[in-house]
Amino acid sequence: MINADGLTLRLWTEADVPALVAAYADPDLRRWTQLHADTVPAALAWVAVQRDGLANRTRYGFAIVGSAGGPILGTVALKRADPDGPRGEVGYWTTAPARGRGLAPRAVSVLTDWAFAAFPELRAIDLRHRLGNLASCRVAVKAGYPLIETLPPEAPGRDGGHLHTRAA
Ligand SMILES: CC(C)(COP(=O)(O)OP(=O)(O)OC[C@H]1O[C@@H](n2cnc3c(N)ncnc32)[C@H](O)[C@@H]1OP(=O)(O)O)[C@@H](O)C(=O)NCCC(=O)NCCS
Repeated sequence: MINADGLTLRLWTEADVPALVAAYADPDLRRWTQLHADTVPAALAWVAVQRDGLANRTRYGFAIVGSAGGPILGTVALKRADPDGPRGEVGYWTTAPARGRGLAPRAVSVLTDWAFAAFPELRAIDLRHRLGNLASCRVAVKAGYPLIETLPPEAPGRDGGHLHTRAA
């Protein structure tokens, strides 16, 4: 559990499945994310991805809550394809009612500070978003992740993206 800047970041559990299903009822959340948790089986699988990632040190996924025991406001995760490598990647979303209050930039900043302190070998964290996701671009800039480059579409007919990176 991480407590900083008035936020608590805590690990996901299966008790969070109803809150996950409710959050993923939002079409914007489904539009901009790849792994959906909009049914009970999908949400159980989503929680298992967080748990397995923690076990193999490739994903540190946290629920964002205003205080311990409070309702879920979003998620933020540090992903490490190489668990001992110098680069990581951050991912996040906030629930529809929690948006527009600077929550995601705060949570990304808290996770980033924690990650650089917890993993001294980690030298840079990347943040990728699709070009059309202007809200996510604002999160990157407000969380101190400058734009590094514009990325080509991953497949024909798809949107390109932005790579933002914050160095340790
Ligand atoms: C992108 C997202 C995480 C931003 O979270 P947030 O907690 O609302 O962050 P902020 O309050 O800092 O708002 C960021 C931008 O969202 C837009 N915004 C403001 N109010 C909003 C609202 N009520 N609803 C949606 N977007 C809003 C604004 O462009 C804002 O930028 P600004 O502060 O320069 O005006 C959130 O909209 C979300 O979860 N979207 C769906 C999933 C997603 O896109 N995840 C990221 C994938 S890369």
